Amino acid sequence: MRLQGKVAVITGAAGNIGLETARQFLREGASVALVDLNAEALESAKTQLVPDIPTTNESHVLVIVTDSTSEDDTTRMFSEVVAKLGRLDCAFLNAGISYSSTPILDETMDRFDKVMNVNVRSGVKYAGMAMKELGNGGSIIITSSIAGLRGTPGMSIYATSKFALRGLSLTAAGELGPFGIRVNTVHPSGVNTPMFHATWGPEKIEELKKAMPLGRFAEVDDIAGVVVFLASDESKFMTGGMLKVDGRSVSF
Ligand SMILES: NC(=O)c1ccc[n+]([C@@H]2O[C@H](COP(=O)([O-])OP(=O)(O)OC[C@H]3O[C@@H](n4cnc5c(N)ncnc54)[C@H](O)[C@@H]3O)[C@@H](O)[C@H]2O)c1
Repeated sequence: MRLQGKVAVITGAAGNIGLETARQFLREGASVALVDLNAEALESAKTQLVPDIPTTNESHVLVIVTDSTSEDDTTRMFSEVVAKLGRLDCAFLNAGISYSSTPILDETMDRFDKVMNVNVRSGVKYAGMAMKELGNGGSIIITSSIAGLRGTPGMSIYATSKFALRGLSLTAAGELGPFGIRVNTVHPSGVNTPMFHATWGPEKIEELKKAMPLGRFAEVDDIAGVVVFLASDESKFMTGGMLKVDGRSVSF
């Protein structure tokens, strides 16, 4: 198993990509802290994950309701993970929000503040502090987007937030490298999830799909597999890196 004995925090774990990543981490032998704002969805995530994976029991899964935009919540969450699971090897910082595609001229500052607040804060500082204190290095993986690599009409604020995460990860990779802490970003194109469908609506979705060379959008397991790689020792010389998981999409 590729993550045997490792401990990971996954934010946005009650959501689509987070939950599938938690499943793959558990299958690879990790213990996982499921972190999200949505308490009910978190409990249901735990209830489905544990019986799903024969090598996993209740002790491998910790549920921590956390608002990733709150300094107090995030600090408390990392302390609880270390106290209860004994170590911290990986933080998959994946909590994020989107919205229905909107032209820049109709955008509002309120939305700018809300999206930037959730998507950019991400918790890199707190993951880095916890890993540095433990002294065993670690892997921080941040969910950016293909919108964090190129202009995406209708998604000016979202794209701004996802580009910002590249700056954050490159800087953090330089600063945290001396402590053995790696920081990388993943950049999915549209993933077949409610967030993606709500962003674009049915007509645009059909148009986007026709332009996908592989004839389909990503599924959550396509993204989770790449995150497992970045969490594992197979990527031990990768830091400040970015992995596009976009099926060579040209249309977003
Ligand atoms: N779905 C896509 O097509 C797609 C494409 C590229 C990137 N992404 C990114 O992937 C990540 C996950 O997307 P998803 O499709 O699984 O979305 P999702 O909505 O299913 O999951 C996001 C999760 O984040 C949680 N969350 C939101 N705000 C939070 C906060 N302040 N504190 C803690 N948790 C919070 C939500 O409760 C939710 O469970 C996001 O960062 C998103 O921007 C998604």
